[in-house]
Order: sequence, then structure tokens, then C-alpha cells
Amino acid sequence: MKALILSGGKGSRLYPLTYTNAKQLIPVANKPVLFRVIEAIRDAGITDIGIIIGIGENGRRVQEAVGQGRRWGVNVTYILQEAPLGLAHCVLIARDFLGDERFVMFLGDNVIEGGISNLIREFEQSGYNSQIVLTEVAEPQHYGVAELNPDRSIKRLVEKPRNPPSNLALVGIYMFDKHIHEAVRSIEPSWRGELEITDAIQWLVEHGYHVHPYIHRGWWIDTGKPIDMLDANSKVLEELTPEIRGFVDRDSKVDERVTVEEGAEIINSVVRGPTIIGENTRVVNSYIGPFTSIYHHCLVENAEIEHSLILEHSKIINVPARITDSLIGRNVELRHSELKPRALKLTLGDNSRLGLV
Ligand code: G1P
Repeated sequence: MKALILSGGKGSRLYPLTYTNAKQLIPVANKPVLFRVIEAIRDAGITDIGIIIGIGENGRRVQEAVGQGRRWGVNVTYILQEAPLGLAHCVLIARDFLGDERFVMFLGDNVIEGGISNLIREFEQSGYNSQIVLTEVAEPQHYGVAELNPDRSIKRLVEKPRNPPSNLALVGIYMFDKHIHEAVRSIEPSWRGELEITDAIQWLVEHGYHVHPYIHRGWWIDTGKPIDMLDANSKVLEELTPEIRGFVDRDSKVDERVTVEEGAEIINSVVRGPTIIGENTRVVNSYIGPFTSIYHHCLVENAEIEHSLILEHSKIINVPARITDSLIGRNVELRHSELKPRALKLTLGDNSRLGLV
């Protein structure tokens, strides 16, 4: 089997972080979401991976970060999508890479509990033409939605319906055999001008192909918005096996659900898990609360942070209020200044959000 990872898209709901980084490269529990996707695919025994990237900087950044995939023991082929014309369009342009093999298509910004090994095994051993993953969600109108027959087979699939026929959303993980190629050639663009994979799967259903719905019971997060990133971060942190590889001094209290990576230092601080402190990051006279990931080469001094994600090379120093529910990018400096006038002095990127107390 092969795998196709979709890693295009502008990530506009995560501006300003995604002006300078692909959203798939934003780390969750100190590892880019895309790396987690590659690992899930590799762990399912697939080594031939195609990655769809958009034109422009973010595509180049993905290529630079992943390379040929040797680090994971996989072989990566890049496929350039010139415009965001939809998920089914990605299958269309990956035709040469995919050939007639069965494959799994995985959205590069999705995080799912428990990986995909069982799913892949089930599909490989079956005669299904396609297997889709469904899960119950609170707001199905934002997703592809499945309506099932009383015998649990698929009756109908609709993309972002105004009146959803059920609360079963399509998760961004799909398995196909070669018949999907005819389907993606046969459908028309949707109202949003995209070739929808949901419509292509509906085409398979209508043409008598066997599409098997797998109901996923654990958590699944599509990391589109800041709150989704924080949720995914919390969930993955809960799954981590904690390890102290850095230095914790005698005056600090670090509970058992904390990971301290190599070269990190915790000095005179309290760290409550699940939390991860990245390589060569220093935490001094501070409190780091649960569900926080601080990436590598950061400095946190005289500050309190909880339920937040801090990216590399950032400094948070002498901040009088507790920082919570926050997403802080790379090379950010947040510090209390003694210089007069006593005022907020801000350099915020376009589309930044600042919540003051
Ligand atoms: C896409 C699919 C949708 C699916 C969702 C899962 O939506 O079109 O059917 O439920 O991914 O993340 P999009 O992210 O393009 O809005």
C-alpha cells in the first residue's frame, strides 16, 4: 500500500503563525503534526509516501523539514498542487505516483488517537473498494457528513450540509483502491470551487462500489484553529510517556507527568504535567501548569504559563499575569519592562490576538 499526505493550504485560521510556517509543521507536544502523521503511516507498515504541497514558501518549508523521509525509514515523493482545488484534485494529480495500488490518504493537519495501524490492517485484509473513518461531532455542518442505512452501510455522503442528516463526520483519513481514480475524474467542482473527496466517495457508493464506514470512538482533532491546536496538544501530552532527560534542580518541583528534554533546565520552578519542556529550554523561578508545551531554546523566567503552546527560541520574562490558553510563535519576546512610560509596548504581527487583563 502507498500513502498520500495532503500538506497544502494556507492555514489562514492560524495567522500570524502560518505567515512564516506551514500549519502542518506547528508542533503538538513538541513534534510537528506532519511528523506525527508520517510516524502513524510508517507504524502501519507503509513506506512509500507522497506528500502534496502547495506552491510558495510553505511547500518549500515542508520539503526542507521532511526531506526524503530517511529519518523515518520511508521514501517521500513530493507532488505540487498549483492551486487549492480540493482533496479529490489531490488524488487526480497524484495519479502517476499512486498507480493502481491501494492507498491511504491522510490530511496532514489531523491528529487521531491510537494511530492507523488497525485501520490499515482491516482495509488490507478486506475486499472493500474504500474505507472511510467516521466519528461523532457536535457541529457536523462544518464537515463531510455520512448518513447510514439501518444495516450500518452508507446511504449518502454530503459535504458541509446546512441540515446535517447525522452527527457522523468524515475524519481526514481515507482508504481507496484504484476505482477512486475514475471517481475523481467524474465529479464536478462544488459550490466552493473544489473537487470534493466526499463527492468522489459518494460517486463510488452510487456506482455500486463497496465503501466501508469505520466508526472511530477515540478522539480526533482537525487542527484548523488555535483552540484545536491547544486541544490536540493537551490530548497528545496525555498520551506521552514522561521522561526526564534534562536537569531539574533541588529547589524545583516537577511532577511525574512532565517530560524534560535533553539540555533543558528547570531551576527553582514548579512544573505540573502533562507538560513538555523542550531541548535547551530554561525555566527559571517560574510556574508551568498542565497542558503546556514549550519547544526548544526558550527561556521562561519569573513567569506563569498554563494550557499553552510556546514555539522555539521565544523568551517570556518577568510577566506579571499568568499566561493561559495561548499560542506563541517563534522568536517572540514577552517581558515586563522597567522603562518609563509604564505602558504596553507591542510589536504584533498581522492578525495577532492579544487578551489583556
Ligand atoms: C475536509 C473534508 C471534509 C472532512 C474534513 C476533515 O474539510 O472536505 O469532508 O470532514 O476535511 O478534517 P476541509 O478541511 O477542506 O474544510
